[in-house]
Amino acid sequence: LNDAPIGVFDSGVGGLTVLKALAAEMPGEKFVYLGDTARLPYGTKSAETVARYALQAAEALAGYGIKALVVACNTASAASLPAIRERLDGMPVIGVIEPGAEAACRVSKSGHIAVIATEGTVRGGAYQDAIQRRRPDARVSARPAQLFVALAEEGMHEGAIAEGVAHHYLDSLFRPPASAATRAGATGATAVAPDTLVLGCTHFPMLTNAIRAAIGPSVRIVDSAATTAKSVRERLGAGELSGATGRSAVRFLATDSPERFARVGSRFLGQTLSPADVELIDLQESRGRL
Ligand code: DGL
Repeated sequence: LNDAPIGVFDSGVGGLTVLKALAAEMPGEKFVYLGDTARLPYGTKSAETVARYALQAAEALAGYGIKALVVACNTASAASLPAIRERLDGMPVIGVIEPGAEAACRVSKSGHIAVIATEGTVRGGAYQDAIQRRRPDARVSARPAQLFVALAEEGMHEGAIAEGVAHHYLDSLFRPPASAATRAGATGATAVAPDTLVLGCTHFPMLTNAIRAAIGPSVRIVDSAATTAKSVRERLGAGELSGATGRSAVRFLATDSPERFARVGSRFLGQTLSPADVELIDLQESRGRL
C-alpha cells in the first residue's frame, strides 16, 4: 500500500498547481492525476451536477489502486467531499478548502478575510463556514471571480488585461469608496479592509502578480495548494500510508483532448508535458450506472 499512488482530481488542468505542491512536499510518492477537461468548468454548474461528476471521477481513480485522494478542485471540494468520503469508505480524502481556511485563520490579524473563488464555491458558502468554524469572530467577504479561470487558461495571467480584471473584482473589497468608510465610521461599524485574501480556486495562483498589483503589498495572500500539500503529508504520515521510496512519478488522465491538456497544463505545472504523456479516459462509459 505504501507504494500505491495518491489520486489527485480536478475539473481540468488547474489542479496541477496542487499536484506541483504535492510532489514538492512528498518527493518519491507516485501520483495519478485526473482532469475532467471534457466537463470543465465546474465553477458555473449546480452543486448537484458537480457532485455527480466528482463522484464519477473519484470512483474512476479508486480503480487505479490509489491509497488516498486529493480533491484539488475547490468547487468539487465544496460540493462533494462528504459524498466522496462515503463512497470511498475509509480511504483518506483531502480537499483544498479546509487547509486554505486554516491557513487564512492563522495569518489574519484583523479577522477580516476575503475569499475569491468560482461562483459555485462562493454560493455554497464552504469557505465562509470553514473559516467561521475555526474563528467565529472572523468576518468573511467572499466574491466570485470567474473570469480569472479563463484568463489563466488563455495564458493571459499578466499584463494590463489581467490587472484590469483584478481591479474589477478586488477594488470594491480592498479599496472601498471613501464615503463608505466615512459612513461606517459615523455609525461606529468597522470599515477595515481585509488583511488576508484566500485564492479559493485552482487557477488563481497563476494570477498572483496581477492580484498583488491590485491589492497592494500588505495583504497576505493564501494559496491553498501549499497548505493542502502539507496537510496531505501530515495525514499520510500519521498512518501507515507514507514512506514511498520509489522515484516520484505521475500518470496523467484527461477526459478530453490530451493535446490541450498538455499545452495548457504545462503552464500550470511549470514543466513541459507532451500529449503522449496524457491518457484519454471516458468517465461516463466506465461509470455508466451513475
Ligand atoms: N478547478 C476549479 C476550482 O478550483 C476551477 C475551474 C472550474 O470552474 O472548473 O474551483
